[in-house]
Amino acid sequence: MSSMKKTALHGFHLAQKAKMEGFAGYHMPISYPKMGVLKEHLYTREVAGIFDVSHMGQYEIRGADRERFIEYVTPVDLQKSHPGHAALTMLTNEKGGIKDDCIVTKMYDHLYLVLNAGCKDKDVAHIHEALKNAPQLRGADVQFIPLERSLIAVQGPKAAIILSEFVDGIPDMDFMSCRQKVNVKGMEVQLSRCGYTGEDGFEIAVSDKDVVPLVELFLAKNAEMVGLGARDSLRLEAGLNLYGHELSEETNPVAARFMWSISKRRMEEGGFIGYDAIKHFKENATKGAVPQLRVGLVSTGPVAREHTVIEVDGKEVGYVTSGCPSPCLKKNVALGYVNRDLAKKGTKVNLVVRDRRVPAEVATPPFVPTNYYRKSQ
Ligand SMILES: *[C@@H]1O[C@H](CO)[C@@H](O)[C@H](O)[C@H]1NC(C)=O
Repeated sequence: MSSMKKTALHGFHLAQKAKMEGFAGYHMPISYPKMGVLKEHLYTREVAGIFDVSHMGQYEIRGADRERFIEYVTPVDLQKSHPGHAALTMLTNEKGGIKDDCIVTKMYDHLYLVLNAGCKDKDVAHIHEALKNAPQLRGADVQFIPLERSLIAVQGPKAAIILSEFVDGIPDMDFMSCRQKVNVKGMEVQLSRCGYTGEDGFEIAVSDKDVVPLVELFLAKNAEMVGLGARDSLRLEAGLNLYGHELSEETNPVAARFMWSISKRRMEEGGFIGYDAIKHFKENATKGAVPQLRVGLVSTGPVAREHTVIEVDGKEVGYVTSGCPSPCLKKNVALGYVNRDLAKKGTKVNLVVRDRRVPAEVATPPFVPTNYYRKSQ
């Protein structure tokens, strides 16, 4: 424990008697005794949960060539996006694999990048390597600046009502938009309308010294602390990929069904790491280049976890990458990869859980309908 990193909320979690575990090198709350994992999950779907996600990597990218740089290390398309717009994208490798998924937000004078906690060290090394050695970036004016500050998420159908108690103009904020220098009771925060639960919600970047008072403001408005346990079942119900499970250096955006994140212009023009390989996966997907596809799976009975083998007629046809009992559906939900010809919704397969063959059906995520806010509603 002593060698683990701590977020600025660590003392707060201990004071709440949270069940703590190591996660990506950080000592993080899995659940809090007040509700426990199951109730934390349901409370987020019904009201609002507060998550400490300060272990994620936050960076600012400055300099005249910042957009050219980010369009080289990721396939994100910033050409048409306006300041305040956030996009889910990925760091790619030369083989067209996925080094990490990440959020890039375009600001007026910089880019804001959020990386997964478990990947951030290797990502930063990869970024510095590209800045130093990629011929495409020679002489580029780019500053890559780590941000030492906290990040919390407030997620759930009441998140916007809670934020509106402190901030004007919440209904004008679309999902995947970001506002800088927002004042919350005298504290300056950066507010992004996004999240990882399938619900409407916000991720709020705040200085370490203000994070406890900020959390206490939301707790006083009926939001409750939620740990990483429920965060995983919430994202799974919403069908959202988790790096190291559905996404890895060995998978690619075609197999992972992540091609929606790459615009037509980027796929035509290329100019990002792994472009040739991704183009090959896309064009030759049905000719053997992409033999397996990411699917959803629904079952009852014993729960299939990561690495569970998927079978049809006693033959191995795929594997599970994440799975859990769904608190909302009272069934088991999972994500995994299966042979292309079995990826159709409704296909019957077996999950090999210990020595049992558990019948399951291929389904299209999200398993629980998502509830993202759209301004025009
Ligand atoms: C698709 O495969 C063919 C035959 O293997 C190859 O010639 C072609 O270059 C591939 N397409 C791409 C975009 O790599």
